[in-house]
Amino acid sequence: MRWNNEMRDQMRVKLDYNNMMDTFVGDEGFTEKDFENSKALCNHAYEVVKANRGKGMMGWTELPYNQGEVVEDILQTAKEIRKNCENFVVLGIGGSALGPIAVFQALCHLHHNDLPKSKRKAPKFYVEDNVDPERMEALLDVINPEKTIFNVITKSGATSETMTQYLIIMDILKKRLGDKAASHMIATTSSAKGNLIKITKQEGLKTFYIPDSVGGRFSELCPVGLLPAAVLGIDIKLMLDGAKYMDKMCMRKDYKKNPAMMSALLQYLSINRGKNISVMMPYADSLKYIADWYCQLWGESLGKAVDKNGALVYAGQTPVKSLGVTDQHSQVQLYTEGPFDKVVTFLAVENYRSEVVISNGCEEFPDVNFLCGHTMNELITAERKATEYALTVKKRLNHTIYLPEVNAFTIGQLLFLFEMKTAFIGEMLNIDTYNQPGVEGGKNATYALLGRKGYEEKREELANAPAKNDKFVI
Ligand code: PA5
Repeated sequence: MRWNNEMRDQMRVKLDYNNMMDTFVGDEGFTEKDFENSKALCNHAYEVVKANRGKGMMGWTELPYNQGEVVEDILQTAKEIRKNCENFVVLGIGGSALGPIAVFQALCHLHHNDLPKSKRKAPKFYVEDNVDPERMEALLDVINPEKTIFNVITKSGATSETMTQYLIIMDILKKRLGDKAASHMIATTSSAKGNLIKITKQEGLKTFYIPDSVGGRFSELCPVGLLPAAVLGIDIKLMLDGAKYMDKMCMRKDYKKNPAMMSALLQYLSINRGKNISVMMPYADSLKYIADWYCQLWGESLGKAVDKNGALVYAGQTPVKSLGVTDQHSQVQLYTEGPFDKVVTFLAVENYRSEVVISNGCEEFPDVNFLCGHTMNELITAERKATEYALTVKKRLNHTIYLPEVNAFTIGQLLFLFEMKTAFIGEMLNIDTYNQPGVEGGKNATYALLGRKGYEEKREELANAPAKNDKFVI
């Protein structure tokens, strides 16, 4: 069933930024005048983003519109995988892993892998985004590679972590399955660059392509995220439709009506007032890893030493993930009474997919009994509102993004909203939102340490770095 406009409008994701205003948080907050003074900056950000849509590294803006054929191929492939395999394992890291993890957590059963097959209706799902040897061994303890499809995802086709996993798994598959090994490995990579594309041709792997104009952290809505999601039975067309719906709002020229522009501006103004930490706090376990995904998007896109003119700016705002209500009992004390250096973004869900009534009992203990008859839904909502209030009375900047429900349409909106917000603030900060020289630095040093050809100079540089002093190891 496709959604009509009324259904879409009912599922609109909304931004409430009352608690960023001086009327709520006093002189810590912003005024209408602050916004008026930023109008030119917003218009500039808007024009640059509009002009560059689909160009350079902004291919991600067009993903909701230009993947008709790819989506059909993905759905067909996913159908086969769902029919034939017990496990689906993503091998990837960073932007090639965080999106699939976030969407899985948001849109699948919270104990998906523990469900019996009849209820799960999709393969068990794992994302291996580290090279901890214990984790690799643990994975191999719980899956039978012969009943597993692996999806190696790396745009560059060169990331050591991912290629390490590929080498290990392909070796196992070849030893166990001989000629059939290739049918257990699907690659998602750049069509033009890197080694993986050459390997896929040599090995005859089914391959999906990451457009050159789409960077890792902006890639969830291309085959990087769409194939795993489709394998899990998620309605990927609806997710893309959600992104499209949000795109319309994010291309509103009036910055006060544009949720991505407004949230970018609020964060930009906050940074200028020394709020160097952006806390993402969903009040839903399903959105827990959206916060992780956001942290990469925000941290890697904005953390830049130089601006577009080459001037040293050391831009960025440190993203922190926090989970409501869990982290009320660990982090909120700091957010409420610690330094005035944070902006908190709450993610609120209006209708949870389950309702659980709190059972009767403990009649002789009124301090416990008051909970009875309420629902957990009421409790989590009350706790979110209470935390929002507690922060606000302590003059702590916070705002809330409301999801009417967590579903493929609202998740598509949310992902696109954050991507557009990142694009706009990148222009406000005048930085290159899409590069990651700091990440490349680490990658190159690893290549050098492990003796990759062409990295001799780097190896030399590392060898000549000052030796550690035992005096400072205690
Ligand atoms: O956002 C990015 O570009 C990075 O975080 C990459 O996603 C990450 O480094 C993995 O790169 P690749 O997909 O090339 O293996």
